[in-house]
Amino acid sequence: MIIAVIGGGVIGEAVARNLTLSGYDVIVAEKRSERIRELENLGLRVTADSKMAARQADVVILCVKPKDVESTLKEINEEIEGKLLISLAAAVTIDSLKRLAPGAKVVRAMPNLAVAVRESFTAYSAEQGLKPEESEIVINLLRSFGVVEKIDESYMDAITALSGCAPAYMALIAEAMIYAGLEAGLERSLALKVAAQAMIGTGKLILEGQKTPSQIRDMVTTPGGVTIEGLFELEKVPIRHAFMSAVKAAMEKSRKITLALSGG
Ligand SMILES: NC(=O)c1ccc[n+]([C@@H]2O[C@H](COP(=O)([O-])OP(=O)(O)OC[C@H]3O[C@@H](n4cnc5c(N)ncnc54)[C@H](OP(=O)(O)O)[C@@H]3O)[C@@H](O)[C@H]2O)c1
Repeated sequence: MIIAVIGGGVIGEAVARNLTLSGYDVIVAEKRSERIRELENLGLRVTADSKMAARQADVVILCVKPKDVESTLKEINEEIEGKLLISLAAAVTIDSLKRLAPGAKVVRAMPNLAVAVRESFTAYSAEQGLKPEESEIVINLLRSFGVVEKIDESYMDAITALSGCAPAYMALIAEAMIYAGLEAGLERSLALKVAAQAMIGTGKLILEGQKTPSQIRDMVTTPGGVTIEGLFELEKVPIRHAFMSAVKAAMEKSRKITLALSGG
């Protein structure tokens, strides 16, 4: 199966490398010549001709910025007739994609940067009437990014704000922990390792250890101990409120972009 990845930026590169490692035949279409060279140096097959890439492909994965979706689909519209089109563009709805590429079988997915290490949470929604074998192709492709879940498209703005942006939020926490480690006198490299492993470990305690975040907190917090001293200080800062406000703002932004792109 040949997969065309249209747009070889941050996400396109991660997607293309991933799918190549999973054994798919991948061709990347990218506009910028310096970027083409970078991608070629990674061992990827790259072209500047999006039409040609789409023509060769069985499945097309759209990895261009939301503002470029319309022009890109106009360019490759004829080549994707009857083919699966998986758009990773934030805020571009299935309806808009169908309007721009009526002959394609449209799937909208929202991964995050952890595609690069096969640990993305990828949510997707598909147009009505996809055949079971087409759904299977989509799930298998997206599974190579990490964890996959089908969702109602109405959740897509929330997923974009929570999951698409999550690496930025988590990186901020990691950075805060590194600063804290430096303040406590640890070497930067040691603090960095501690912060990253703490995120992996806590995530696995939740997913594999089947513990809720509050259970984890209770298990670590002994009476009169060290952790409660740390938590006492953290309680002075409204961390939960900060996250809730951040995700709400990001979701609003996603909705506004959707409206702007659909001419609303
Ligand atoms: N980055 C993330 O964490 C993330 C997470 C989830 C979803 N997404 C979605 O993924 C999409 C891509 O994001 P990104 O961060 O990878 O953007 P990016 O780094 O800007 O990559 C997009 C690339 O596509 C190129 N391009 C534009 N039109 C093209 C065309 N017709 N044919 C071939 N190449 C074309 C762009 O070139 P020019 O710069 O010259 O236009 C650019 O190099 C966005 O829609 C975004 O919403 C991103």
